Amino acid sequence: MFQAATESTEAIAISAVKTGVARNQRPILGGKANFPVCLAPMVGLSHVAFRRMLREYLPSGAVTLWPTEMLNSRRVPTENLKTTPETMRSNEETHLVPQILGNEEEPIALTVARLEKEWGAEGIDINMGCPVKKALSHNYGVALMGDAKYAAEVVRMTVKATKLPVSVKLRAGHQNDLPYLIEFVQGLENAGASWITLHPRTSAQKRRGSADWSQIRSVRESIRIPVIGNGDVQISDDVHALIAATDCDMVMVGRALTARPWLLWQVGEELGFPPPPGREFEKAPRTPDEEGQEYGRSLKRLLTFVSEHFPGDLGLRKFRFYVRTGAPWLVFGHDLYARSTKAKNFDELAIALDDFFSRAQPMSLRTELRQ
Ligand SMILES: Cc1cc2nc3c(=O)[nH]c(=O)nc-3n(C[C@H](O)[C@H](O)[C@H](O)COP(=O)(O)O)c2cc1C
Repeated sequence: MFQAATESTEAIAISAVKTGVARNQRPILGGKANFPVCLAPMVGLSHVAFRRMLREYLPSGAVTLWPTEMLNSRRVPTENLKTTPETMRSNEETHLVPQILGNEEEPIALTVARLEKEWGAEGIDINMGCPVKKALSHNYGVALMGDAKYAAEVVRMTVKATKLPVSVKLRAGHQNDLPYLIEFVQGLENAGASWITLHPRTSAQKRRGSADWSQIRSVRESIRIPVIGNGDVQISDDVHALIAATDCDMVMVGRALTARPWLLWQVGEELGFPPPPGREFEKAPRTPDEEGQEYGRSLKRLLTFVSEHFPGDLGLRKFRFYVRTGAPWLVFGHDLYARSTKAKNFDELAIALDDFFSRAQPMSLRTELRQ
């Protein structure tokens, strides 16, 4: 077993490999990432306050990628990166891989240069999956999947503008056309992408229906660079199942991490990583009541970070959105969300949380993924 935070990350990676779960992991972020789960970029959710809270559940010695919400490359060149909510970061954050949206060389080059030199990015992710109308009308996001040559060109222009690794997050595209998807990702690999994340739903599906994991396997088999699999993971068993089914190099989790941020701890425990710092003598929560109790605790931490970074109404809105996304896993989550909408400030929110979690609040393993 590990000595918390005393063994090198390399030793931990090797031990994770020994468990068989991360067996064929190809190196991500120049080999620095040694943990098989990362947070998904999510507008309104993957901000500094959530990242800080979630990081408290990362096992000691584990290194993974940390996203931002998608950042528009037409705006980043002139924005104040310290005060814009989407680009706020805290000094202790490492391994940040911000996600950019764009398709034009100059704004991309300026954006990437600022993120690399001023902001401290360690990688750049390009969004080729956003299906909202605005992205389609500007011809970026998932619209780029309609033009494989131009999409590869966008990777090429980004790679040219930075020394950092450049990745792409994409969908199954407009329709489930597997040969096209394979040709598309091979084009991105040839253009210099360092890894690919696939959320195998079509743009028309948005987040409805289920993710077709078999496409992750096909993509993994058709390129040499690492592949991150994403879609519908709710519990730690799903992480292992997705890796087993697709041989992907890492699993990206979005919505479920807003309900079960200790999923990182659970997976770490299953792989032989030590507990997160400060929790050395505890086991990861597992039962419905343990998970419900930890959820209350995680919300209090999030509230602290949200009030620090986003004072006032913006913070209240962000907190409520977070609760709306994660509360469906809680048996009485609808009541919790209703209470969060009634609270008029952070103090009232804290009181509402204390009251709600003064009783056992069981958490279910799965919920219908509607959001
Ligand atoms: C509220 C919300 C916002 C999202 N915003 C982004 C985004 O900015 N960029 C992106 O690539 N994907 C975005 N996604 C998609 C997620 O990254 C992820 O691919 C999707 O939720 C499937 O993963 P999951 O089943 O683990 O949630 C968003 C998803 C949600 C729920």
